[in-house]
Formats: sequence, C-alpha cells, structure tokens
Amino acid sequence: STVDLVVVGSLNVDLTARVARHPMPGETVRAAELTTCAGGKGANQAVAAARLGARTAMIGRVGTDAHADTLLEALRTDGVDTTHTVHDSDTPTGTALITVANTGENSIVVSAAANARLSPEDIADAHSLIGSARVVSLVLEIPVDTVVAASRAARSAAARVVLNLSPVLDLPEDVLALADPLIVNEHEAREILHRSGTPPTGPSGTGDAVALRGLGARSAVVTLGGDGAAVAEGDHTEHIPGVVVEAVDTTGAGDAFAATVAWRLSQGDALPDAARWATRVSAHSVQHPGAQPSYPMLHALPEPAGSRTLPGNA
Ligand code: RIB
Ligand code: NA
Repeated sequence: STVDLVVVGSLNVDLTARVARHPMPGETVRAAELTTCAGGKGANQAVAAARLGARTAMIGRVGTDAHADTLLEALRTDGVDTTHTVHDSDTPTGTALITVANTGENSIVVSAAANARLSPEDIADAHSLIGSARVVSLVLEIPVDTVVAASRAARSAAARVVLNLSPVLDLPEDVLALADPLIVNEHEAREILHRSGTPPTGPSGTGDAVALRGLGARSAVVTLGGDGAAVAEGDHTEHIPGVVVEAVDTTGAGDAFAATVAWRLSQGDALPDAARWATRVSAHSVQHPGAQPSYPMLHALPEPAGSRTLPGNA
C-alpha cells in the first residue's frame, strides 16, 4: 500500500463562539470569543491521523473561496495528500457554526455546501488512490450515495472500511455490513437502534455495541465520552476505560477517535488495542480548544494512565 488511510468526507471552516451557556430558542447570548479554524469531520480525521504518523489522503470538495484555501492549507501543512480534494466553482465551502459552553459541550449547525456535491464520480476518479489504501475511513457529512460508492470501492480494493456513521443516516445493508468497525457515539448508537426498531438492551455501551453488530456491521465501537468506549467484534466485547481529564472543548473528539482507530488498524492492531489508542488521543483533544488545533503529534501524546517504568529501567 502507498497510503495507510484515505478519508472520504467533509471539510468545513469552523466558526466557534465561546459562550457561558448555549442560547435558548429566541435568545441572544454574548460570545466571549470567536475563532475561525479548519474543521469538518472528514478533514479533522485526516489531520488527526497524519499528526500521528499515518500516510493519509483526503477525498472531498471545497469551494473556491478563501475558506477553501484555509482548509487545503491546513491539510497540506500536516502532510495530507489533497490531490483528490476538489475545488467546486459553483458553491461555497462548507461551514460549521459552533457554540462551546463553559462545560466544554458544543452545539453545531453545519452548512454542507460543497460537501453536498462530493459525488460517486469523485470516488471513481480516485479509484487508484483507494486501491493503494490499507484503510478507507468514511463520515456522513457527504451524500449517502457517495458513502455507498466509497464503501464498495474500498471493498473491491480489499481496503478495510472504518465507518463513522455521524450524523446518523440510513444506509443500505450491504454497506453497513462492510463497516469494520462502525463507530458512533452513545446518542448515535441509540438513534440507529431506535430507527431499526431494536429495543434498548439495558445500559448503553457494550450492550449497544453488540446490538449494532447485530444490525450487520462486522464490528462496532460505541464511544462513551469520558467513560471510554465499548467494542464488539465477533463474540468478543470489551469496555475500554476512559482517560479522566478536564474537558474544555469536545469538538472533533469523535473524529480524533475514529482517525486513531483507522490509523492503528492500518498498522495491524487488533480493534480493542486501536480503541485504547483512540481514547488517549481523544482525551488529549478535549483538553484543548477547537478540533484540528487540539490534535496531538505522536510524540506529544501522554503515556497511557497506569503505565509505569519497570524497576531498574529508570
Ligand atoms: O466533529 C466536529 C466537526 O463537526 C466540526 O469540525 C464541524 O466542522 C462539524 O463538521
Ligand atoms: Na478540542
């Protein structure tokens, strides 16, 4: 393979306002600060993986405005191959309006714009790139048809598919069946199970991961914020403990998680080990503002909690 990871997904400029609390409908609140950063669930993954050392390429669409340059520049600075990140002259670049409250919790409104025009033809054009990838990682801020085309292209190329079904949309069964793993957060897990008519099996977490596997995914990971993640693969289920940290901004933590899983799988890790890495990277990201600005380089990643130097090794 010539690339570890191909990300097929969205690129957005994130306009982030820090607020004491989120506004209620009809209410105006003051922002303490407004920042403009490179974001989008797809581009976030690409940058997160590249910073960890993955050879990464991005398939996506931006406009021809200044925001497009910001996004491409951000990818290239981290060494992401943008050959298949296409400029679309008829539509603006995707934009996310984000508020982050004092609790670190965010709410996001996304205008897909150019992301909505990433097409199955774009996937066909990237045929040889996908053919050279170990892992293809997908997010749902692009048209479902494109996600379907990319999953099937990955399957023909024998690349492993990591599917972050965020935001939740209905996918054909054969596409869900390629997800190895399907990665969602606990709310998305509940929504998928609800849509499929699967009653909740008890506490979220491992129960939901097993239920998602039951819907056909080859494997499933449910992220649980500070509580870590639940992994279901074959008959094996495992709760990966969280890393306890003070969250200042959780924006893009899920993208960092999915990217890390994709990278570690491309290096041959087993899924639970990949998820353990991912909890470390996402825990790092929530302690810093923004999405892409908060992703660590590999050398800046703290050692896992509980790891210690063996006596005599000091
Ligand atoms: O997951 C976080 C991302 O979601 C943000 O960067 C924003 O662009 C939205 O796509
Ligand atoms: Na962050």
